[in-house]
Amino acid sequence: VASASPEPICQPLAPWRTALAKAIHGNRKLPSARYPQLATVGLDGRPANRTVVFRGFFAHTNCLQFITDARSAKAEQMTHQPAAELCWYFAQTREQFRMAGDLCLVGAHHPNPHLQASRVQLWQQLSDAARLQFNWPSPGDIRQDNQPFPTDVPNRDEPLIPAE
Ligand SMILES: Cc1cc2nc3c(=O)[nH]c(=O)nc-3n(C[C@H](O)[C@H](O)[C@H](O)COP(=O)(O)O)c2cc1C
Repeated sequence: VASASPEPICQPLAPWRTALAKAIHGNRKLPSARYPQLATVGLDGRPANRTVVFRGFFAHTNCLQFITDARSAKAEQMTHQPAAELCWYFAQTREQFRMAGDLCLVGAHHPNPHLQASRVQLWQQLSDAARLQFNWPSPGDIRQDNQPFPTDVPNRDEPLIPAE
């Protein structure tokens, strides 16, 4: 789970928060309106951009939540350089939001209990199809001999990798 700021809890609501929430609501019939583009900085200093699913705001904060596989390139990138940009186009209302912020990877050992609770909740809310992907081989790895991907869905109520 990534969120747009390392210490989001005490921030006052930003002026853009209402406009963004309104655009999300106004475009809710378009599935693509849930898919912003998230750009990070690669380990080589070059931009790295990809589509992600918006998973809601963290509580009543300015903090946007996304889910990612901790083995993905973006997870490593954000620990080296948290600065990121989000570009989000809403086709129904013809609005574009470009947002700059810092990413925070909320892994199994993140010390903030509120962020941990949200991480667990997002895991539990995932569809089986989405949770299944976390059981697949590491993203970006070369596929071994065209082996079929695992089809056993991780348990909604248990972590995929138990915290040590
Ligand atoms: C419609 C759509 C939604 C996606 N949603 C996510 C997502 O929520 N989280 C994610 O990590 N990757 C998502 N992906 C895959 C990413 O775009 C990307 O290919 C993958 O995360 C690997 O990126 P990385 O190697 O830069 O980390 C989505 C792709 C598409 C096409």
